Amino acid sequence: MSDTFDIDLASSLREPTLLNHRNYINGQWKKAVSTDTYEVMNPATGQSITGVANSDAIDAVHAARSARQAFNSWQRTTHRERASLLEKWHGLIEQHMDDIACIMSSEQGKPLAESKGEIAYGASYVKWFAQMAMQLRGDILPDSVPGRQQTVEKRPVGVVAVITPWNFPLAMLARKIAPALAAGCTVVVKPAEDTPLTALAMAKLADMAGFPPGVINVITASREQTAIAVDAWLKDVHVKKISFTGSTQVGRYLAERAATSLKKLSLELGGNAPFIVFEDCDIDAAISGLLAAKLRNGGQTCVCPNRIYVANGIYDEFASRLVDKVAAMKVGDPFDEATQIGPMINQKAIDKITHHVQDAEENGGILLCGSTNAREGFFFEPVVIADANNKMALFSEETFGPVLPLFRFHTEHEAIEEANNTEYGLASYFYTQDHQRIHRVKRALQAGVIGVNEGAVASEVAPFGGVKASGYGREGSHYGLDDFLQLIYVCEGNLG
Ligand code: SIN
Repeated sequence: MSDTFDIDLASSLREPTLLNHRNYINGQWKKAVSTDTYEVMNPATGQSITGVANSDAIDAVHAARSARQAFNSWQRTTHRERASLLEKWHGLIEQHMDDIACIMSSEQGKPLAESKGEIAYGASYVKWFAQMAMQLRGDILPDSVPGRQQTVEKRPVGVVAVITPWNFPLAMLARKIAPALAAGCTVVVKPAEDTPLTALAMAKLADMAGFPPGVINVITASREQTAIAVDAWLKDVHVKKISFTGSTQVGRYLAERAATSLKKLSLELGGNAPFIVFEDCDIDAAISGLLAAKLRNGGQTCVCPNRIYVANGIYDEFASRLVDKVAAMKVGDPFDEATQIGPMINQKAIDKITHHVQDAEENGGILLCGSTNAREGFFFEPVVIADANNKMALFSEETFGPVLPLFRFHTEHEAIEEANNTEYGLASYFYTQDHQRIHRVKRALQAGVIGVNEGAVASEVAPFGGVKASGYGREGSHYGLDDFLQLIYVCEGNLG
């Protein structure tokens, strides 16, 4: 197991201290108590970047204890102190954007420009919640009885366990931690096993910003050890809330286990987003919206369209114009400026995408571009599939890769029925220039996030989250703070 860093990555950083491979607990960098490590791989080269701590239940307990102790004083800090530290953290994230982007692209594989975009996006949540911290307030209720004052206080829920995915290693972390800290909570974080280095860089920047020891704690663990570490938090009565982004299967497990100690939960789970292209749309706008939504991060995004419904009257034209664009996309090295799609995260991802494409062909799909021919590494050429239908695995399962299946529809009613014909409800998109139709369709779609003539929908000012099996809780926006607060009603009687 390596205890050093990939030489090219380490030497490319202006601030080498951003590269860390130990847990960050109580303001200190610590090996796992077992001293065990696991390797973080670069998906573009298949080479190890470094070994990081392979934490278990003992490390998780230490992190939770540290967060519990820090909560005693952090919850009493003024909103100004919390806002000011978040502002400093935001400034440092922006200042070190180039370095963090190199770390992120190395472990995650997204093109460098996309990593920078994600860092700006993630930083916007930190800034937003610094401002939201300044606006925390309770309520004075009307007197229901003479001589009585009834007030509502908003208090932080306590220690929050934050479990983040590999597809947006910085933005999802920022979107969860920033509101938690703004509310007065402390956090224990378990980043995805594939992308721990970005999270550790964020911890380093938080340390530089001056957050007190124990307010933010990060432990890393391999896929096999993650359940053991997270179970320790599920059992810990001091961990009051879990904020998780990942699969519906894991979300259900967490909800079941968290029920015993009645922890609060925010679950941002799987999606199966429909993208409906009506006959009366602006086709150019629909194609560029589709490409932005679908091929961001190589299609490895919870909100990316998984099923594309195209009106019969424009189906062939839309397909041919889409193929012209998709076939010209450059897949390759994330550090090459021309690259638009980097490698997929790992072999498991390649296996699933390949299975979806082969299964689609077996069920009558026609490949208009791309193929499943093996390429070295975890690279996958984008694929457009015509004649997609409900027998295909990609109809009901999230592909999480650059596969664009085109389903044909004949009526608005049929498009809506099919779009909602899924257990998931994270995002939905549609393109039309008919205002009456916009009104009808947006009301009918079952999703937490709806893009109307727009493919890039997420922003720090907007609530992000799903309905149905895509989970519950909202991140970002002024609603995003509520999930980290509890309402305390105080009734003062006999006031004369
Ligand atoms: C996700 O894939 O879970 C997040 C995507 C986003 O924030 O836009």
